[in-house]
Amino acid sequence: MAIVAWEFYSGIGGLHLALQRSTIDGNVVRAFDWDQTACKVYSANHGPNVVQKTILPELVKLGTGVHPTRLLIENVAGFEFGIPNSRLRYYLLAKMAPLGFPTPTTSPSDGWIWRHIPGCDDSDWVDPRDSASPPSPISSAGSQSSVAKLRQFLDQDGAPIHVIPDRVLSKWGRLFDIVLPSSYTQLVERAGSILQTNEHLDTTCIFDEFLEAQANNNPSAMDILRPLGLRYFSPTELLRLFYFLRPASQDDFIWPEGLSAKTKYRLIGNSVNVFVVTELINFLYAEWA
Ligand SMILES: C[S@@+](CC[C@H](N)C(=O)[O-])C[C@H]1O[C@@H](n2cnc3c(N)ncnc32)[C@H](O)[C@@H]1O
Repeated sequence: MAIVAWEFYSGIGGLHLALQRSTIDGNVVRAFDWDQTACKVYSANHGPNVVQKTILPELVKLGTGVHPTRLLIENVAGFEFGIPNSRLRYYLLAKMAPLGFPTPTTSPSDGWIWRHIPGCDDSDWVDPRDSASPPSPISSAGSQSSVAKLRQFLDQDGAPIHVIPDRVLSKWGRLFDIVLPSSYTQLVERAGSILQTNEHLDTTCIFDEFLEAQANNNPSAMDILRPLGLRYFSPTELLRLFYFLRPASQDDFIWPEGLSAKTKYRLIGNSVNVFVVTELINFLYAEWA
């Protein structure tokens, strides 16, 4: 029998898409979000009758008497401090007894949070940014040992370029995470990701030169950065990175008319990685002997 799912804080429907892509026969029958724009995007992609604009007190009333047998909750690390900078995600999976999870053969390394899906892959995920050594080589999408190259998610040549205004680059450029098409990440400092399209130049050296010129009030300081070919990711590239669009697939994502790029960035940035949530839903419904 198909499972029936409710999606709270539904945004642009990352969980909806993950359920569709999972091995589970199920449908999101109701979704809730108070952001009108998010609801429009959700409806454009998942039909007009699922999502409703509502707020939490109404949900509490609505939920009375409903006892879900399974629960998946996503949250962002750092919210407890009010600064979700690194966007490390937490997922909580729960089942109503007597349903259960497999008894793990090992314990989570920090005592209570798993950094991998138990039973699927026994190696903990390690944030490469916490390590001084360069990230391991990468080949295809899927697991930590085979992470896809960024190039695979980029628009083809000729797509509109999302230019970074000089005033933004001048003021905030040194705070961006600058990533290269063929690598994982090269850190200047941590604030947000932009793409360096010219891979032949050393980001740190160029930025050092730029900062020195800026400190000396050199009016041509910005010209030092131009050869790096820095640009924002396009919304479509971000949809690929979040797996709303699978690279080299025929997947489609509909944006209602009139949405600015800024709004798209916000909505995608608030969303989830559909690949990860699909795996978690499969795990949540796996049968254990
Ligand atoms: C982190 S986003 C979740 C995005 C979603 N999982 C997706 O795939 O796009 C949180 C969402 O919750 C909505 N939200 C926050 N507080 C809310 C409330 N009190 N009632 C309804 N929606 C709320 C926001 O508008 C936002 O779209």
